[in-house]
Amino acid sequence: MSRFGGPEVLQVVEESANPEPGPGEVRIKVLAAGTGFTDTMIRRGRYPDFKGPLPFTLGYEIVGVIEKAAPGVVTPLEGQMVADLCVVGGYAQFAIRPARLLVPVPDGIDPAEAVCIPLAYLTAFQMLTRYRELPSGGTILVIGASGTVGTALLDLARHLGLKAIGTCSAANLPVIERLGAAAIDYRAGDFVHSVRQLTPGGTGVDIAFDAIGGAHFSRSFACLAPGGLLVGYGSQTMAVGRESLMAAGMGLARLKLWSALSFLYGGRSAVFYSITARRSKHPEDFKADMAMLFQLLRAGTIRPVVIERLPLSAAREVHTRIDRGGLGGKIVLLPWYVNGLR
Ligand SMILES: NC(=O)c1ccc[n+]([C@@H]2O[C@H](COP(=O)([O-])OP(=O)(O)OC[C@H]3O[C@@H](n4cnc5c(N)ncnc54)[C@H](OP(=O)(O)O)[C@@H]3O)[C@@H](O)[C@H]2O)c1
Repeated sequence: MSRFGGPEVLQVVEESANPEPGPGEVRIKVLAAGTGFTDTMIRRGRYPDFKGPLPFTLGYEIVGVIEKAAPGVVTPLEGQMVADLCVVGGYAQFAIRPARLLVPVPDGIDPAEAVCIPLAYLTAFQMLTRYRELPSGGTILVIGASGTVGTALLDLARHLGLKAIGTCSAANLPVIERLGAAAIDYRAGDFVHSVRQLTPGGTGVDIAFDAIGGAHFSRSFACLAPGGLLVGYGSQTMAVGRESLMAAGMGLARLKLWSALSFLYGGRSAVFYSITARRSKHPEDFKADMAMLFQLLRAGTIRPVVIERLPLSAAREVHTRIDRGGLGGKIVLLPWYVNGLR
């Protein structure tokens, strides 16, 4: 893309030369590139952690095979399948990436399922396990449960023996129910009341996850049981232009206030999770968590919801669909998809 905007800014560009890896880098033949809401935020120029320079190639996460390593790069090995949270550059047949950030993908895993791990599952896993150790039987609330992070949260909650309640639009209620959670249509009334009714004695949930942001954080906070935790991880209404930057900022300020004055709120507290900030602060956790998730995927313990696999040329159409909402899972781009062969 050479300007920020709607899906129309996405163009397929062919380059004549194959890029060469520089010091500490490898060239990856990209087998699968994940798509998702965060890509659309970057496309709009509304993502705080990346605003160019233009032109650039979108694509937050990739899985591929190391094709060439720069002299001196020892691991991972050439021919090894790896995953990477590249933030941009993923919608491409080749990517040049620093070797130190890559995580090996075990043999026998479908690249399209593997690419759901670096962003969606890792975010879900770290939010579920790195703040609180919920005992089996604990209850969580997932706002936007039919999305890529939402379905990952429900899948992992099932694995961890947690009870889950999820909100989404009416058409996606079955997606949530298939993942074993109680489903609420967020357009059908006050979800705070419905959530409380679903918890024993109306006490509320142990942890709530909310990426809608802004004023919505208050409603999720109102669903917490005493001692409960709200994990904010996005500002979706601001990202699509339905709320101002100021309102999103107020939402973040509320999280800080609740956390500082937790004693006034029955021990209820709040944090904001950012995958990129956490990776820079705790790179070893990032790699260890990702390796563990790949083992769960290989064992069939977790099952990412991949709804379609499409060629790179479909990126514009995919973004139009993400913008419309209601997808109910992840669309994966396969850069080497030719005439229906994947
Ligand atoms: N902080 C981090 O590190 C981090 C990491 C990954 C993602 N994120 C953020 O997480 C958010 C979700 O990402 P994603 O890839 O899962 O997006 P997605 O697949 O597009 O899912 C969005 C979800 O939000 C639901 N939704 C939309 N409006 C809603 C509303 N008013 N109330 C309740 N639910 C609503 C959608 O439901 P329907 O489709 O059924 O309408 C869908 O389930 C994005 O803002 C993204 O930027 C943050």
